[in-house]
Amino acid sequence: MTWLITGAAGYIGARVLEAFTMAGIPAVALDSLVGGDRDFVPVAAPFIHASTLHCGKVTQSQEDHRVSGVVHLAGYKYAGKSVKERLVAYEYNGTGAALLLKAMDRAGLRRIVFVGRRLRNAGRVNLHRGHPHSSRIAIRRN
Ligand SMILES: NC(=O)c1ccc[n+]([C@@H]2O[C@H](COP(=O)([O-])OP(=O)(O)OC[C@H]3O[C@@H](n4cnc5c(N)ncnc54)[C@H](O)[C@@H]3O)[C@@H](O)[C@H]2O)c1
Repeated sequence: MTWLITGAAGYIGARVLEAFTMAGIPAVALDSLVGGDRDFVPVAAPFIHASTLHCGKVTQSQEDHRVSGVVHLAGYKYAGKSVKERLVAYEYNGTGAALLLKAMDRAGLRRIVFVGRRLRNAGRVNLHRGHPHSSRIAIRRN
């Protein structure tokens, strides 16, 4: 099973990709390089220079690499910039995520791991096992 890791040239994505590589789990990196750094991506991993906004390119890479799940870590979250350029941030994050889901749907992919931020003013929620908002991340090889 091959995973597509979006935002793989970023702080978290690069580490997730490295962990997958070390665990022997096949993974493909995708990043627009709007942030991050291409050098963070392990040399051995296939790298796709694309934005999640490029639905066609995402679909193509899913087919080329027989991807069966996505770890979505692409995010435009730069302090100051993302506040000043709210529409740009919305496009990269909101529209980008929607188009990624569209590309996954087209390819019949149902597995996604998403790391988001707690919403401002969302209050404090104690998540316990069984809580409707709790989530479990399970990465299986098969
Ligand atoms: N760093 C943290 O402490 C932390 C904590 C909680 C949640 N998160 C979330 O995890 C995600 C990744 O955070 P990070 O710290 O690794 O950020 P980062 O800025 O280091 O990496 C994000 C990567 O996403 C890429 N990117 C942005 N928009 C893209 C798009 N539309 N298509 C393709 N690539 C795109 C950037 O080029 C960059 O390489 C974000 O959603 C962030 O909100 C981060």
